[in-house]
Parts: sequence; structure tokens; C-alpha cells
Amino acid sequence: MGTFIKTSLLAFFLLFLLSPTAFAATNDGLLRVGLKKRKPDRFNQLTEHGLSVEGNARRNFGFHGTLRNSDGDMISLKNYMDAQYFGEIGIGTPAQKFTVIFDTGSSNLWVPSSKCYFSVACLFHSKYKAKSSSSYKKNGTSAAIQYGTGSISGFFSQDSITLGDLVVKKQDFIEATKEPGITFLAAKFDGILGLGYQAISVGKAVPVWYNMVNQGLVQEPVFSFWLNRNADEEEGGELVFGGVDTTHFKGEHTYVPVTQKGYWQFDMGDVLVGEASTGFCADGCAAIADSGTSLLAGPTTIITQINHAIGAAGVMSQQCKTLVNQYGKAIIEMLLSEAQPDKICSQMNLCTFDGARDVSPIIESVVDKENGKSSAGLNDEMCALCEMAVVWMRNQIKRNETEDNIINYVNELCDRIPSPMGESAVECNSLSSLPTIAFTIGGKTFELTPEQYVLKIGEGDVAQCISGFTAMDVAPPLGPLWILGDIFMGRYHTVFDYGKSRVGFAEAA
Ligand SMILES: *[C@@H]1O[C@H](CO)[C@@H](O)[C@H](O)[C@H]1NC(C)=O
Ligand SMILES: *[C@@H]1O[C@H](CO)[C@@H](O)[C@H](O)[C@H]1NC(C)=O
Repeated sequence: MGTFIKTSLLAFFLLFLLSPTAFAATNDGLLRVGLKKRKPDRFNQLTEHGLSVEGNARRNFGFHGTLRNSDGDMISLKNYMDAQYFGEIGIGTPAQKFTVIFDTGSSNLWVPSSKCYFSVACLFHSKYKAKSSSSYKKNGTSAAIQYGTGSISGFFSQDSITLGDLVVKKQDFIEATKEPGITFLAAKFDGILGLGYQAISVGKAVPVWYNMVNQGLVQEPVFSFWLNRNADEEEGGELVFGGVDTTHFKGEHTYVPVTQKGYWQFDMGDVLVGEASTGFCADGCAAIADSGTSLLAGPTTIITQINHAIGAAGVMSQQCKTLVNQYGKAIIEMLLSEAQPDKICSQMNLCTFDGARDVSPIIESVVDKENGKSSAGLNDEMCALCEMAVVWMRNQIKRNETEDNIINYVNELCDRIPSPMGESAVECNSLSSLPTIAFTIGGKTFELTPEQYVLKIGEGDVAQCISGFTAMDVAPPLGPLWILGDIFMGRYHTVFDYGKSRVGFAEAA
């Protein structure tokens, strides 16, 4: 493939807040990358939230990592909000540190270049300085990777890559000199390390993993991911190069052959909702295991039906209804008591200023990044919705409508608000009544409970529950494809068996 498209899916304003990672390796031939989790503050979480998806869609979530000692050479990863898992690598001699997403849905390694002068995103990230590395070798061939929300471009260079104690020599990677758009601006990771097959590598560059195998750095030609889905725990996850960490799964893995060596693609049996005996893929569906995607993506026709079955509606609609539910009556009362309409939302602490949001989300995120704080995107959403609701309610009051009629009418309007990114949300308090959704792979059933397929952002009144099912249409011949991202890989420990060309899943522990 000439052009590899990696797209990013962003919930509202995408801000990646990924923490730094540390490496440690041991001497049993396994390299472990640990993933850490961090709890974000209760507000602003949507904004901090990146979701990544492979293919033709428009969304992205990121990843983190730290190495950790265990009975093997392992790298530990950091987990940010169950949506982003990443780890640290070194490039050059001495090693220059970078935080990268370990992405099985792409195959190149890229990091920002010290020669990136005109992209703001480069200002806020570690940059590779070829001059400071004694193992650097010039290449200079230009390269670009397209994303749904932007792109990166730059040129190839060659250097040593440090993963824990392992050093991969003569690795071709992309020094990004342009990172336009906001996708990478607020990203907490510097770059991406692709773990897919060479067939989808831009410039046909030999992937890091191939060189690890070819240079005899791993015991077995296998790597495996464990992603912790408990955001309260310090350990975010673990990427093991050269084997599996037996402490992180139960029972046996179910293996299926890789059917297309580009992504880690395999044939999935069916997708079943609740008690249904026939599902949406009765004739089989192609799927990929993608650590670089936060959610679970599938064809629009099917995802729409699943989201209908679980009562998911557009994110903005859901948020709008939450607002009406919690504040609707109070807003009406304030309007009736002749409060100044443009002050109501700030009086209710839903808007910081009196409707004046003069700081654009981008600038805000940059400012906040500098201050080491998160930005206020979720507040902005609530503020904007509140102001809309005030206008709508005021009109209804002028028509002498009853309170109940006003609330009903505004709820109907909520349904009509388009979702900027197409995410769907469910009522957080409805989780216990939602069906289990099952995937059949290799003749076995892999279930996800509502708690597992819904991504909960925030707590209490402002909690948002995002459906883990997101629509993404990958055009033929590559597609249609299902993308089993972190939502799935969190519940199921995943082995990427390069030697035997197969993918294995077992219950994570
Ligand atoms: C530059 O890197 C590309 C991608 O790995 C490779 O195909 C090409 O041969 C390299 N060119 C030189 C001059 O090293
Ligand atoms: C609303 O009610 C007031 C007083 O009850 C009346 O004067 C006014 O004409 C009514 N407005 C409409 C639009 O029905």
C-alpha cells in the first residue's frame, strides 16, 4: 500500500494527557513495557480524552508505558483513562527519551524532529536531535502519514532504538518536521511506534519489531499486551516483547490465524447482542486487534443497530438531556423570576464567565499544558448547552407554555443536536440493564459486559458514559473491518504471535 491512513478519533476537543514512563528490563529474554493509569480530575475529562482508530474514520485516543521488572524482559505501559496506553523508548546514543503509543494498527516509528520549526505541536514535545547521537545515520528520504484529523510528514533517519535494556540497531524511523492541526498539539505522547506488518509501513521501512526479531533480541517471535482496565491502579498495563506474562491472563489463549498481514487481521465469527442466537456477522466479519484504538469500531450499519440496542444516543444529545434533567426546572424558575437570561448559566456555575468564552480550546489547552493543568472542555460543553437551553426555554415561556411542556420540548430539541464526532453515549445509570455483547473468535465466545464496553468519563453528576461502539467504514478491499481496540484488549489479554502468524486471546487477569 502506498499510503497508509491512520485516523484519529477525538471526543470533543482532543487532548491527550499521557504521563511519562520508565523502563526496566530483566534477563529472562522477555522485554516488558508497563502501562500506567492516571485518574483525571472530575471535570474536563472529555477534553483530555483521545481515542484512536485505524482506517477511514476521524478519531483518536492515545497510549502510555513504563518498563517494569518481572520474570522477563518487559516494558510497562501507562494507561490514561482506559483510552490511551503508552510507554517510553530511547532513540540514539546516548538515548534521547520519547513517549510513544505502541500501536499494532500501524507499522512505522515516528517522533518529532529537532528540525520541526513551524508546527506548534513540536514545541510541546521531545524532539530528536540527530547531531547529538553518535549512532545516527542520515537517510533523508521524505515520508508522510495521513490522519483523519491531520497528518505528519518528515524524513527518514536511522539510529539505535532502546526498549528497556534492549537496543535495536540501524532502525529506520521518521523524523517528523510537520505536525499540523491539533491532533498532536495536545498529545501527551511524542510519537507512535507501530507494531503492524511491514506491508502497511510507509516507505516500506522495516518495522522495529522485525528488527528486534532479526537481531536476535527476543527469545520467541511473539509480543503480548495486557491493558489494565482499572483506572485506580498504578500499573497501567504491560507490553511483553518475546513472550507472555503468565500473571496477566487466565486459562488458555484461543488462537486464530492472521488472514492479511498488514494489520493484525483475522476472521471473526459473529457479534451477538444479549440472548440473540444470530448476530450481525452471521457470515463472518474481518477484524483487527489494534492497541492504538481506544474503542471498538465497526461498519456504520451494524454499529448503529448495536447502539440502538443499548439505547445509545449522540453524545451531545445525552449531555443536553442530562442538563435539562438536572437544571431545567431551575432555569425556568430563574427565567420566571426575571433573572437576566445571559447571567443564568454563570449563576448556576455552568459557565465560568458570563457567556464569554473568548479563549479558544486550542489556546486554552496550550496554556493549560504549560501550567500543567487540564483544560475545561467539558465545562465549555455544559456552558454552551445551558445557554442554548436558556434561549429555548425563554421562547417557550413567552408562549405561556407549562413547565412540563417546556421540559419535554427542550428534551426533544436535545435529540436533534448533532454530535460533532459521532460518538454515542448511554445513561450511566442504565448500565445494569444493558445486554452483554459477545464476539465469537475461533469458535469461542468472548463477552463484554456493559461496564466493559462503556467508557465512563468522570464521576457523579458530570459523569459521561460513552458507548464503546463507534462507527467506522473502512472501504474495500481493506474493509469492511471491525477494529477491536483497547475496550476489547483490556478484557482479553492479547498475544501477537508473529512466528506462527496468529493472534490469541485469553481472559485478562
Ligand atoms: C531510507 O529509508 C527507507 C525506509 O526504510 C529505505 O527504504 C531506503 O533504502 C533508505 N535510503 C537510504 C539512502 O538509506
Ligand atoms: C400569555 O399570558 C398573558 C397573561 O396571562 C397574556 O397577556 C398573553 O397574551 C399570553 N401570551 C400568549 C403568546 O399567549
